[in-house]
Amino acid sequence: MTVSFQNGRDLDNTSDAVDDVNVLKGKMWDEESEFDTSKDKTKFRQYEDACDRVKAFYKEQHEKQTVEFNLKARVDFKSRKRAHMGIWEAMEMLNNLVDDSDPDTSVSQIEHLLQTAEAIRRDGKPEWMQVTGLIHDLGKLLYMFGSEGQWDVVGDTFVVGCQFSEKIIYPETFAANPDSKDAVFSTRYGIYKPYCGLDNVMLSWGHDEYLYHVVKDQSSLPEEALAMIRYHSFYPWHREDAYTYLTNEKDQKALEAVRAFNPYDLYSKNDEPCNAAKLRPYYESLIAKFFPPTIDW
Ligand SMILES: [Fe+2]
Ligand SMILES: [Fe+2]
Repeated sequence: MTVSFQNGRDLDNTSDAVDDVNVLKGKMWDEESEFDTSKDKTKFRQYEDACDRVKAFYKEQHEKQTVEFNLKARVDFKSRKRAHMGIWEAMEMLNNLVDDSDPDTSVSQIEHLLQTAEAIRRDGKPEWMQVTGLIHDLGKLLYMFGSEGQWDVVGDTFVVGCQFSEKIIYPETFAANPDSKDAVFSTRYGIYKPYCGLDNVMLSWGHDEYLYHVVKDQSSLPEEALAMIRYHSFYPWHREDAYTYLTNEKDQKALEAVRAFNPYDLYSKNDEPCNAAKLRPYYESLIAKFFPPTIDW
């Protein structure tokens, strides 16, 4: 294993800070600030810290997620196998990436996956959705499989190959992305046709896109589950209504699915801690309904 615990902590901190900002964004992003008067200073500080860290992260991500990089990432994905293992084994592998004792990490990866799944289960949602909650972040294994950094694993996603949307967080940081000056990629439609559908656009490479490609042909999960996995970080679309000029009718169903999933991902982190050993038999039985014992990663 080439990834050190230090790097794992860095990734986890970034991933948590991105989630924190997405939680805050939902309530107050771009709104007249009231929080500094009504909220205590500790919360305010966390918000500022999260935003500073997240801004630095997005600056790098927005500069480096080019069409060229995305084509290369997809060729690389297809041209090699990274591992062959079962879902639970992958969860444990992802959990090794982070150090549970790190005070800056609110919950471990396996805890986040279980809390998401348990919240979905508690609400009486179908088994396929529980499994989706359980696996939705396993794409972060990319970080152990030779990603370039954090910027091609975590963070909100967006469309590459056409004009970067103003609805993406910190849109001004795209000025340093060479595609923003490209004669084609910088236009409204870029390489796409109006209403071509999200199946025909290239989303920035990261844990959503990677896991979608891993599970789409190796599981019996329904379309809605695949949409939840593929688009759960696509905030410019599912929260900000960007890119409607590229979507089609099929994407409407996907949007409903992603929006139904989002609260469980964002707001289950404060829930009761899960007992992984106790929950394992239940989730192993669910996994077996949708996956073979082992899959290619
Ligand atoms: Fe995620
Ligand atoms: Fe998540």
